[in-house]
Amino acid sequence: MCGIVGAVGHDRCGAVLLDALKRLEYRGYDSSGIVTLHNGQIDLRRAVGKLVHLETALAAQPLNGHIGIGHTRWATHGGVSEVNAHPHVAANRVSIVHNGIIENSTLLKKFLVSKGHKFKSQTDTEVIVHLITENLKTENIVDSIKKTLKALHGSFALGIIFKDKPDLIVGARRGSPLAVGYGPNENYLGSDSYALKSMTNKITYLNDGEFCVIKKDHVEFFSEDGTKINKKVLELSSEEEKYDKGDYKHFMAKEIEEQPLTLKNGIKEYIDNANDDINIYNFPWKKNEISSITLIGCGTAYHSCLMAKYWFEELTSLDVSVDIASEFRYRKNRFKKDSLYVFVSQSGETADTYAALDLCNKNGMKTCAVVNVIESSIARDSEFVLPIHCGTEIGVASTKAFLGQILILYILALKLGILRGDLERKHLSRKLNDLKKLPELIEQTLLTDNKIQNISSTFNEAKGSMFLGRGFSYPIALEGALKLKELSYVHAEGYPAGEMKHGPLALIEEGMPVVVLAPRDNYYKKTISNMQEVIARGAKVLLITNKSSDEVISENIWETIEVESTNEDLLPFLLTIPLQKLAYYSALKKGFDIDKPRNLAKSVTVE
Ligand code: AGP
Repeated sequence: MCGIVGAVGHDRCGAVLLDALKRLEYRGYDSSGIVTLHNGQIDLRRAVGKLVHLETALAAQPLNGHIGIGHTRWATHGGVSEVNAHPHVAANRVSIVHNGIIENSTLLKKFLVSKGHKFKSQTDTEVIVHLITENLKTENIVDSIKKTLKALHGSFALGIIFKDKPDLIVGARRGSPLAVGYGPNENYLGSDSYALKSMTNKITYLNDGEFCVIKKDHVEFFSEDGTKINKKVLELSSEEEKYDKGDYKHFMAKEIEEQPLTLKNGIKEYIDNANDDINIYNFPWKKNEISSITLIGCGTAYHSCLMAKYWFEELTSLDVSVDIASEFRYRKNRFKKDSLYVFVSQSGETADTYAALDLCNKNGMKTCAVVNVIESSIARDSEFVLPIHCGTEIGVASTKAFLGQILILYILALKLGILRGDLERKHLSRKLNDLKKLPELIEQTLLTDNKIQNISSTFNEAKGSMFLGRGFSYPIALEGALKLKELSYVHAEGYPAGEMKHGPLALIEEGMPVVVLAPRDNYYKKTISNMQEVIARGAKVLLITNKSSDEVISENIWETIEVESTNEDLLPFLLTIPLQKLAYYSALKKGFDIDKPRNLAKSVTVE
């Protein structure tokens, strides 16, 4: 989703900003632009599509100057076009980049038009830059920013430059993340520390409501009411992780194959081999302080929460609920003192999940984050953080982060089971032993490649498909359907197998591909019966089960994939692998952009 960068003091500003924008590409975008101040003039380049188009525009007409801002845009208000791309400029005086949504832009625009302002784009962003220009008629820079921010409803991260003030950039944050980076006689602005990392590892994060004035040799921070505030400079690790695809065609392929390793990392981090225990010794709450748990996330992270619900119910006596963040944040929630709220997010920046966390914090709840990006807003604002240790995930379709999330949630369920006395030590030992063997089983399951490649064509040719599962396999069915939808743009529906007869069975017709997840667990026989019901109505069933000496007793199954065997708790990890591959190969055959599916973004920073 939209990315912001800014630099002041650098003599190759255009090039530096382009490099920083490249580091934000992974978030997803549809157009981009950079503006600099040079010889007292605002100089702007914008382009639709991939950054390479902006790069070409810059090669033809380079941008000079020591100060500038840049942006990758993911369209919200107004279509994908050069005129809607950021930066926006008003009265040839002020230029802005914006991430977020201004909810009262129509009203503000009316007011500004009545004052004689002329608009060029259909964006909500252009309203902000005109409003600043309007306020500058009577106020100085800090006061005009304060006044403008006060008038805005919605969420934003902003970068602003002024023709008449060629030595400063203003940054402001409400809802969408923003960070300041410090260099030698040059300073920066960026949507996240990753964008800034090629330039510096010294960072300050803005909190909600704060704004800042960045000059090349110092930065001033202000609270919403304009009071000057002091903020900490954090020193992040200067080690750069390697982000290349290696020998893989796509990041997603690499990330799928990395899963045994990332799970090993997680297990190493959270299992105390010496004491046969779980290494979350710093868990901040006592057993009688928590009697219920609510897990909150979006998309794949929501599926992780749903998966965890089954484990928490199995391993603890806690009351467990699961919520989609965008629903939770506007509901009339009954906050209880002894509830723990767990926020699951790969990026740690998802706007809805962050808003749900913020709501819980404001209501004095216990909050815990399960995140991949440890410097993220969700990690920073949660009381307790459990990192998933997966390394950077670039593919928009989440793969290794999903397994990483469910691993940590499973470990948390074991921890709470032991803490509360719901789980016996000897059972914990057995489960930890099985868990340690999981990476190897994943490695073996990853070898079922060829079969899935062939099967994927059928899913591409069909009108739609269904993914069915019961119990532990139901959240995995939802995740499998989501992966196929987002990568191959074919309709896929995840459903609890037992619910088919209450409606969706009507969708089944001759030749429709249906994935049935039926591992040999408690639900096995029931799921097999549901599978027979769809086969009887003409479905082409791909059965995914685990290896066993007992044959599957059913006729007319189209294809069967067998994953490795382990205890019931851990089978969901293994069932996920063929589903990730099915989605990958379907998209590959269609020639789609696997790492950046259309209309989607890696970091969803608008609600
Ligand atoms: C998964 O493949 C998605 N692209 C998406 O559903 C994602 O999981 C969701 O947007 C939540 O992101 P987060 O984990 O960064 O909060």
